[in-house]
Amino acid sequence: MCGIIGYIGDKTASDILISGLSHLEYRGYDSSGVALMNNEEVNVFKASGKLINLIEILKTKQNICAKSKIGIGHIRWATHGLPTTQNAHPHTCNCKNLTLVHNGIIENYQELKKELEKQGAVFASQTDTEVAAHLIAYEYGKTKNLLNAMQNAAKKIKGAFAFCAIHKEEPDRIVVAKRNAPLIIGVGQGENFIASDIPAIIEYTKKAIYLSDYQIGVITKDSIEIYDEKNTLIPNKIEYLPFEAVAISKMGYKHFMLKEIHEQSDVVRNVLAGKLLSADKKVVLDEFKLTKKEIKNIKRIQIIACGTSYHAGLIGKYVLEKFAKIPVDVEASSEYIYRDTIADKNTLAIGISQSGETADTITAIKQIKQDNSHVVIITNRADSTMARLADSLLPVSAGIEVSVAATKSYMAQLISLYLLAIYLYEQKEVEQYKKEIATLKQELLELPSKIEAIVENTSNIQRIAKKYSSYKDFIFIARGINYPNALEGALKLKEISYINATGYSAGELKHGPIAMLDNNMPVLAILNTGSVYDKVLSNCEEAKARQAKLIGVTNYIEEKDASLFDDIITIPLGSETIGPAINIVVLQLLAYYIAEYLGKDVDQPRNLAKSVTVE
Ligand code: F6R
Repeated sequence: MCGIIGYIGDKTASDILISGLSHLEYRGYDSSGVALMNNEEVNVFKASGKLINLIEILKTKQNICAKSKIGIGHIRWATHGLPTTQNAHPHTCNCKNLTLVHNGIIENYQELKKELEKQGAVFASQTDTEVAAHLIAYEYGKTKNLLNAMQNAAKKIKGAFAFCAIHKEEPDRIVVAKRNAPLIIGVGQGENFIASDIPAIIEYTKKAIYLSDYQIGVITKDSIEIYDEKNTLIPNKIEYLPFEAVAISKMGYKHFMLKEIHEQSDVVRNVLAGKLLSADKKVVLDEFKLTKKEIKNIKRIQIIACGTSYHAGLIGKYVLEKFAKIPVDVEASSEYIYRDTIADKNTLAIGISQSGETADTITAIKQIKQDNSHVVIITNRADSTMARLADSLLPVSAGIEVSVAATKSYMAQLISLYLLAIYLYEQKEVEQYKKEIATLKQELLELPSKIEAIVENTSNIQRIAKKYSSYKDFIFIARGINYPNALEGALKLKEISYINATGYSAGELKHGPIAMLDNNMPVLAILNTGSVYDKVLSNCEEAKARQAKLIGVTNYIEEKDASLFDDIITIPLGSETIGPAINIVVLQLLAYYIAEYLGKDVDQPRNLAKSVTVE
């Protein structure tokens, strides 16, 4: 989704802006632009499409670049208006003195636009951001002060924003504002930075101030002033950024997605470290803040998440209900927020999010917090908005995930949910399943080596990927605890290869989807040993009887049944409960190799964004 970068110091601003934007590219975007300021002028350069188009323009403007030591930059993910150069940020006003980049959505932009038009504003784009630029410029006309103009404008704007503005009449500063969209100020020596996300500036500084909602900042090369909602200057709270620049490198892999799939064994080790020491020791989860007594009072668990994180939540339901013996509802955040929901202090709310910035999930969390439910956040970003809303924060520490398609963060979420289920089981002192819990713990400890066995031998998966890459449709089926992986496997395939893939619970096939089966429809079945093995096998028979091409992802198959399948991917043995954490690796690799074979932009699929910060 959109990304912001700003620089003020003694270096060539364009170099830092382009480097910052290149580290935000992974978020998904469709145009880019920069505004470069020196003591005499502000120059704006914009391009639709990839960042390279903007870089090519800047190569022809070396004189301007060399003398501009202040600048703001942006990558845009279109919301209002097509992804054209005209709609790309930065935006300016009639006199071109004020220049603005913006993340978020201005809800009352139509109203504001009408008012501004009456004052003579002429608009060059369809964006809500240009309305904000005109509004701040209008306020500047009254106050002759960029800080005051921003303060006045922010009061009139409804919606979400992270703003970064410069003005020709104040060539020594950048003014920023934030409401419901992330913004950080990177602290340097004789230079300062602004960014919507850490990767943009981590190369330059490890110190930053996280702006809070309704705060406004004035940044010069030697100073940072933050004002609160009442326009009072507040003390700066400097924090250390959690990432290393090296984490944003492909480390020799062709794509970040492949690197991140390979990292999953280490991710599992990291999530388990200090929490699960051996199969005969209790899980340690100090981050979970409820007492034993409060845990025993939990009547219901409500999981809220979107996309891949939602699929992790669906698997969480199986293990939490089974072991913790608490009923679990899982709902997509975008649905949760438009219902009269029921929750109370005996409801445990679990928000799951890779980015911790997904707008719908943040709103849902705020909604359930009002019902006095204890909120657990499972996230890969301990520095995120959601993390700050948590009563209990379970950071999964999978390392920064650059590829838009979530892989290692999903794995980390699954492991966290397994640990949480075991922890609740142990705190509630449920006696049933003692043996299964011990097996699950042992399997969690052995999981990294099983993942390694899969990623180190992908020739069969690559062969099958090539064979099926020309199909236009795909169906994924599974049952029980693996059903959510049918959804997740299909999601992975469609988002990076654009093949129309759908996941079904295998038992549902005959209630409608079976009508679509013929020899042009590959069906991938997850066939794990356990309670539904035979059921899935008969669903496969039904599919084969309609001449569907059948791919089995299985940890066990008898020779007599193997002939049913056109292709088989064998995975390491494991119990039914641990199954999803093993077979998902195959589904991720299959999607990756199909997309790679088709020559798709694997890490930055079209129309998608890594962090969905708008509703
Ligand atoms: C798919 C994917 C998305 C995200 C969804 C929620 O690969 O990444 O479906 O899972 O947008 O994002 P988070 O987890 O950041 O809340």
